[in-house]
Amino acid sequence: MTVNGWLSDAALRLAPVIGPAVAARELRLILRKATGWSSAQLGVAGGTTLPAPARAAADAMVLRRLAREPLAQIFGEWGFFGRSFRVTRATLVPRPDTETLVELALAEPFARLIDLGTGSGAIAVTLLAERPEARGLASDISADALAVAADNAQRHGVAGRLAFVQADWWAGLDGSFDLVVSNPPYVSQADYVGLAPEITLWEPRGALTPGGDGLSAYRAILAPITAFLCPGGRCLVEIGEAQGPAVAGLFRAAGLDDVVLHADINGKDRVVSGRKPSGRMGG
Ligand SMILES: C[S@@+](CC[C@H](N)C(=O)[O-])C[C@H]1O[C@@H](n2cnc3c(N)ncnc32)[C@H](O)[C@@H]1O
Repeated sequence: MTVNGWLSDAALRLAPVIGPAVAARELRLILRKATGWSSAQLGVAGGTTLPAPARAAADAMVLRRLAREPLAQIFGEWGFFGRSFRVTRATLVPRPDTETLVELALAEPFARLIDLGTGSGAIAVTLLAERPEARGLASDISADALAVAADNAQRHGVAGRLAFVQADWWAGLDGSFDLVVSNPPYVSQADYVGLAPEITLWEPRGALTPGGDGLSAYRAILAPITAFLCPGGRCLVEIGEAQGPAVAGLFRAAGLDDVVLHADINGKDRVVSGRKPSGRMGG
């Protein structure tokens, strides 16, 4: 079978399940993964015979995709901010949306960060890889996620500067940080049930929703935050697009200043940031 023949056959099976445009894009990624070809190599390979081992591997990936397994889990890795992160069923697949938070964090210097709910480690590992003089702590309630994050820290050469701790938000933690970042679970109970099967069947529920109105993780993270921020230190959290006013209110109630809602390139609120006033002691 030729490469183009395989693409047409596989599209007949996958397009009815995930739509023709997504199927076409993902099938090319599957073929590249199965063959090891670059995009350019695949582009000129249409009329050539697909090698049997690559065809078997690609067919197996299509079967998994038909069961709505996300491509990131099928590949075992996914790109974030220009680096590839290992992902498993224990971790949220890093989203492009979260790059907004990373860009905002990088806009000012920092020396010691904490990433609450680190998952794959995408945020903490990226920030330390981008700032070789900084150090950090990454926490998660999931020991399995922390093991993946530790792998990713090794993979990107920041393991010597990033410590890991299993914790329920701040419980049992101490220390003082000039940057607190978090992409916590924020989908409400009601919205969670309407999400795509790739998410509800395959990604950890606890990474996506804290239940209820979706705000309880922000409450837990923000209520004691001045005890953990250095004077002048910043906190940035990712939010759902309708959560800006509520989360900004929690920042102000916690005693943070300079509270700003940041939109992504599509104009949707994505991040809230705030700062502990300089010269004020925490607690
Ligand atoms: C939305 S995911 C974010 C993962 C990663 N930071 C990212 O942006 O791709 C939320 C993470 O918070 C963790 N989490 C959920 N509840 C927690 C809790 N009570 N304490 C600490 N971490 C928690 C989940 O295990 C999950 O890894």
